[in-house]
Amino acid sequence: MARAIDLEVVRSEALPLRKKVPATLLGSGKAKELALALDAEPAELVVIDAALTPVQQRNLERLWKTKVIDRTGLILEIFGERAHTREGVLQVELAALTYQRSRLVRSWTHFERQRGGFGFLGGPGESQLELDRRRITERIVRIKEELKGVQRTRGLHREARKRVPYPVVALVGYTNAGKSTLFNRLTGAGVDARDQVFATLDPTMREIKLPVRGHAILSDTVGFITDLPTSLVAAFRATLEEVLSADLVLHVRDISHPDSEAQKQDVEHVLEELGIHAEARAARMIEVWNKADLVTGEELESLQRDASRMADATVISAVQGTGIDQLLDLVGSRLATARTVLDLDLDYGAGEAIAWLHRHGEVVETRHDGERLRLKVALAAPERAQLARMLGREV
Ligand code: GTP
Repeated sequence: MARAIDLEVVRSEALPLRKKVPATLLGSGKAKELALALDAEPAELVVIDAALTPVQQRNLERLWKTKVIDRTGLILEIFGERAHTREGVLQVELAALTYQRSRLVRSWTHFERQRGGFGFLGGPGESQLELDRRRITERIVRIKEELKGVQRTRGLHREARKRVPYPVVALVGYTNAGKSTLFNRLTGAGVDARDQVFATLDPTMREIKLPVRGHAILSDTVGFITDLPTSLVAAFRATLEEVLSADLVLHVRDISHPDSEAQKQDVEHVLEELGIHAEARAARMIEVWNKADLVTGEELESLQRDASRMADATVISAVQGTGIDQLLDLVGSRLATARTVLDLDLDYGAGEAIAWLHRHGEVVETRHDGERLRLKVALAAPERAQLARMLGREV
C-alpha cells in the first residue's frame, strides 16, 4: 500500500504483538530496538499496519524522531491522492477531518496541547493542522452541505446519462491493479466532443466504442483495500455506487502480484458487502488479468490456457496494449447477452413499450394491479438502455 503512493520502502518487518502496550502499542524493548535501527538507517516515515491511538502515535514519534502514521492514516493518503471527483475529494477530506477531530478530543484530555507537539498524520489533513476543534467542526458541517449539493448534481447527471442509451461498464480492482491505466488505454483513442461532456460531468466516466454492439460508458472507481477501517467505509461506498448499477463489471487484477489470489478474495468480499452477490457477479463480471508483461513466458502461457478455459477471464497488459482487442470483444459479446431481470411498473397506456418488451425481452411474470401493470422482464443491457430512453426514466 505504501508503494501505491510512491513511497520508497527501505525496510519492512512483521512484529509479533503479544499484548498491546497502551503507551506505544509495541513492547518497550521492541520500540527501543527500532529506535536504534532508525538511527542507523534513517527513514522519513514509519507506517504501522494497525490502529494507533493518538498517544501511541505521539510517543513513537518522539522515540523514533520521525513521523509515524497508522493504517487509517496511510489509507487517507492513498484516497487523498487518488480521489478524482469533487465528491471523492470531499469524502476524503471529511474522513480525514473526522479522524483528526477524534484525535484532538483525546489529546485535550491528556493536556498535551499546552506542551505542543501534536503527532498528526501528514497528507490530506496536513494543511488543516492549525485548525482547532471548533474550526474543524465548522469545516465538517460545510463539507457535509457541499456534499449534499454534489450528490444532488450527480443524481441529475446520472438521470441524464441514463437517457443516453449506452450500457455502463465499471472497473473495479485492488489498489494498484492498473484500473486507471486500462481506463486511459480504452478511452485514450478517439476522444471526441461527446466524450468531453462525460469528462466534465465526471472525469471517471467516458464513452468507449465496442466492436460489437456499439458504445458503452466506462466508469473507473477507487481501488479496493483489505480491511478498510470502518470510519472510511462511507467515503469508499459513495464512489462505488456506479458499480451497483453497472451492466457489466470488469475486475482488473494484477496477475503478476504474489498476493494476486488474496487480493481477488478481498475485492470479492467488498463486492459481497456492497450487495453484489456471487451469482449476480458471475453473470455480470469479467476478470481482466493485467500486467501480463511482468510474468515469464511460461507463466503467461499457463495463464492464457487458464483464461481460455474460463468464459469470463482474459489476459492483458494495459501498459503495452496487448490483449485489448480480445477484451473489447468479450465486453461487447457479454453486454449483448447478459440479461438482468427488471421489475417494471407501467401504466396500461404504455402499450407500445409493453409490446416492445415482449419482442425484445423475456417477460417472466405479469401482474395486474389496479391501473398498473407490473412486469418482471429479463433484458440485455443495450435493450435496457433503449427502454430507459423510451420511457424517459431510469429502469
Ligand atoms: P488505484 O488508483 O490505487 O486503484 O490504482 P489503479 O488500479 O488505478 O492502478 P494504476 O492504473 O494507477 O496502475 C498502478 C501501477 O501499475 C502504475 O505504476 C502503472 O504504470 C502500473 N501498471 C498498470 N498496468 C500495467 C501493466 O499492464 N504492466 C505493467 N508492467 N505495469 C502496469
